[in-house]
Amino acid sequence: MNLFDLSEKCAIVTGGNRGLGRGMAEGLCEAGAKVVIMASSDSVADSARELSSKGYNVCGVQCDLASNESIHRSFEKAVSLLGSNVDILVNNAGIQRRNRCEDFTLADWDDVLNVNLRAVFTMCQLAGRHMLERSGGKIINVASMLSYFGGVTVPAYAASKGGVAQLTRALSNEWAQRGINVNAIAPGYMATEMNTKLMEDEKRNTEILARIPAGRWGTPQDVKGITVFLASAASDYLNGAVIPVDGGYLGR
Ligand SMILES: NC(=O)c1ccc[n+]([C@@H]2O[C@H](COP(=O)([O-])OP(=O)(O)OC[C@H]3O[C@@H](n4cnc5c(N)ncnc54)[C@H](O)[C@@H]3O)[C@@H](O)[C@H]2O)c1
Repeated sequence: MNLFDLSEKCAIVTGGNRGLGRGMAEGLCEAGAKVVIMASSDSVADSARELSSKGYNVCGVQCDLASNESIHRSFEKAVSLLGSNVDILVNNAGIQRRNRCEDFTLADWDDVLNVNLRAVFTMCQLAGRHMLERSGGKIINVASMLSYFGGVTVPAYAASKGGVAQLTRALSNEWAQRGINVNAIAPGYMATEMNTKLMEDEKRNTEILARIPAGRWGTPQDVKGITVFLASAASDYLNGAVIPVDGGYLGR
């Protein structure tokens, strides 16, 4: 038996069109899963086509996770594309806004909290209901180093990612006995579009690299393995965990 085999499994990956989500979607495909990537960008269809051209079973669904109505509509579309099966949900999509706390606007606060936390809860609820009916499923949320630290100039992001870690534990407490594993990945500093500004800032880049024992930024490739693990039978006795994938950053 291959503990990591995902053939016959159906997955939804939010923000699966680029960055870490793209790596996670690709990892699930490589393990045999059928995947729907859900994202706001027009590129969602292109990304699905690119992955399909590698021989994987992938569809794209456009969705604005800031809108409750769009989430419900897109989720139903994703479920029908997956033939009414949702075995795996990866809540990866997220946004960042930076400003000093005293200047941080409520509009930015709402934008971040809506996508990074409210949408995560809504998606967990929608997929969770499907999974509870079938007494099985894997939910993987994406937390952050800012689930542990407060950061600087990112109050909404830190609050949302602290919330994702706690939400993961809260859902796990209710659903573990009913066959659903709810866990989270906490990526460290990863080289994606979200961090372009940080990487271009020579001082910050040097400071960050100096604290990463692995000596480099992470990549979308680095989150494939943990995603397959959390989506597969290999993690059946893992519940409510928030797992750092950070090149050792937290231990320093
Ligand atoms: N890059 C890092 O260093 C890092 C570290 C820790 C956690 N994370 C988290 O990992 C996740 C992915 O980040 P990334 O670095 O790949 O970022 P990214 O900016 O490259 O990708 C973000 C994804 O979210 C999607 N998205 C954003 N707003 C959306 C909306 N309203 N509706 C639907 N989709 C939307 C985008 O389409 C995109 O696919 C995020 O939750 C982020 O907070 C990233």
